[in-house]
Amino acid sequence: MTGSTILYGKPIAEATENEVRRRAELLRNRIGRAPRLAAILVGDDPASRVYVRNKEAACQRAGLESHVHRLPTATSEEDLLSLIEQLNGDSNVDGILVQLPLPESIDERTVLDAIDPTKDVDGFHPLNVGLLAQGRPRFVPCTPLGILELLRSHQIDVAGCHAVVVGRSDIVGKPMALLLAQRRPAIEGGPANATVTIAHSRTPDLPTVTRQADLLVVAAGQPRMITADMVRHGAIVIDVGINRVDGKLVGDVDFESVREVSRAITPVPGGVGKLTVAMLLRNTLSAAEARAAATSSAV
Ligand code: GUN
Repeated sequence: MTGSTILYGKPIAEATENEVRRRAELLRNRIGRAPRLAAILVGDDPASRVYVRNKEAACQRAGLESHVHRLPTATSEEDLLSLIEQLNGDSNVDGILVQLPLPESIDERTVLDAIDPTKDVDGFHPLNVGLLAQGRPRFVPCTPLGILELLRSHQIDVAGCHAVVVGRSDIVGKPMALLLAQRRPAIEGGPANATVTIAHSRTPDLPTVTRQADLLVVAAGQPRMITADMVRHGAIVIDVGINRVDGKLVGDVDFESVREVSRAITPVPGGVGKLTVAMLLRNTLSAAEARAAATSSAV
């Protein structure tokens, strides 16, 4: 048997949902409506459809309103931009989310740039990315934010540790690395002040790099690519991967072998994924609270 702690996401996701439900109710009593998320799904990517359905269901559980705009694959960039423009101007919409990936005919950056940064609950707008890079985050991307919550709730302090992030995406790898290296934690009592290495598909001799990690965060999209020989004894391993192999969901980490050498490890499913959606609820509530505060101070 192993002494590795399994870091489950579900209890933290449930606690977050409960907290969001409580605060959403308070806000509804004050402003007369629930916080509202507008989600846009273009095309019929099966994974995206499941993710968006999960987000809708979570909103409902937490007392947030959600409306999903489902658009055909052939939607033009112009039509998508005009929907975003309309949602930007709708004072009853607090958060806007465009599910990625978009069809190839649509330029992702143009679309994300068009979202009102005060409604950008994914934290993908360049203004929010810049605020995070400067160490004064407003909306933090949901997956890295969930990982901060996971580490905080297990009282895992990363100050002075060597964190290796495998993957350099705008959604996970880059923001994760920035958050771990920050001087001030992005969430109260959360992790910060790690020494961070970003590794990626062009990193030579990846195992030598990953073996240096006290905290290893893997978001590379390669099923079971991290094996026990790539992990230092006693490391903490966070698996962001969600891959379908022979009909089964597996992470980027070979769970069965790595759990034998790690101090703590997240499972797939049941680890980080659950937290991503919970953080979206929290970001949407925060957007609604900020909008309500701005509106009442303007009166
Ligand atoms: N596609 C994969 N992850 C995400 C996410 O966190 N937000 C959005 N909008 N799309 C995604």
